[in-house]
Amino acid sequence: MTASTIKGIGSALPEKILTNQDLERIVDTSDEWITTRTGIKERRIVEGDTASSDLATEAAIKAIDDAGIDKNDIDLIIVGTVTPDTMFPSTSCIVQAKLGLPNVPAFDLLAACPGWLYGLTVADSFIQSGKYSNILVIGVELLTKIVNWQDRNTCVLFGDAAGAAVVSRADEGDGLIHSTFISANGNLGHLLMQPAGGSQMPASQETIDKNLHTIQMAGSEVFKNAVKYMAQAAKKAIKEAGLKDEDIDWVIPHQANIRIIESLAKKLRKPMDRVIVTIEKYGNTSSSTIPVAMVDAIEEGKIKRGDKLLLVSFGGGFTWGAVVLTY
Ligand code: ACO
Repeated sequence: MTASTIKGIGSALPEKILTNQDLERIVDTSDEWITTRTGIKERRIVEGDTASSDLATEAAIKAIDDAGIDKNDIDLIIVGTVTPDTMFPSTSCIVQAKLGLPNVPAFDLLAACPGWLYGLTVADSFIQSGKYSNILVIGVELLTKIVNWQDRNTCVLFGDAAGAAVVSRADEGDGLIHSTFISANGNLGHLLMQPAGGSQMPASQETIDKNLHTIQMAGSEVFKNAVKYMAQAAKKAIKEAGLKDEDIDWVIPHQANIRIIESLAKKLRKPMDRVIVTIEKYGNTSSSTIPVAMVDAIEEGKIKRGDKLLLVSFGGGFTWGAVVLTY
């Protein structure tokens, strides 16, 4: 079977910064509470009519450039997002049009925060099957467009960003995706959701008045499950890769809460200086946190080609997953 590799990676972040001090003027909160309970100091926020496809396209162009391939060599586009431009057409189709890649198949994948890892899993399988050679896997979220700005429990947590990778057939000497693991538990879906706007509860005056188009979250329940399932997923993916915890050079966890990340590091017996953390800068940007953190760590000279990486995430659904790869 053919193996896959991350051939190129890119990210896109809005320029505008929203600090904890800015939030103190919007809801009853404090920089001290947000910093100690979550690790977040600031997050990026889009302005005006910027849509998910705009950031996604920017990240995709950078990933294609980093891969050193012609854009016409892309043969599938997958976008993980819970904030599509529109329910349909899919954001992936809009990105396809913006990239100028007519006829390339494109679909969205809704798996919340692990959406990018679910996308890597699908891409890896397509490459292994021999069906495709270069797949664009994008994670993009404009979560600031679906938060309730009167709810201090949630509005302090989220930000906007996009990350993209070109997943390709590995050639001699390339890095490799060693293992992928994904899982879900739909029985707990009600603990983290955007209740209205779908077929169950179509938009109405009432849903708008009750703020049901925004993120609703039972924070401490999500927290407990995140710690448990991220650790389980990490262990499974490491084992399936035929590796041990100590073989992993860098852990790139989903960035939802610094306390979740620290608990995970402890369970994996990894010192925090081997864990990539960007939460203080960007907050939780759902499916894009991992590729964005990976790009930052590469640019800072931390992650290098040949390093072994563990990527692990948890989110609404509930969904969770992990990927082990040599970059
Ligand atoms: N500022 C000040 N006080 C606040 C704020 C705030 N921004 N938010 C909540 N509080 C208060 C609460 O009202 C509560 O007060 P009370 O005790 O008087 O009722 C108190 O702080 C403690 O609230 P908890 O919810 O118990 O706080 P907790 O320590 O659990 O932290 C948090 C909350 C940060 C949300 C945490 O539970 C968390 O990070 N959960 C996980 C989130 C996550 O992982 N999401 C991932 C998926 S996201 C996705 O899929 C899109």
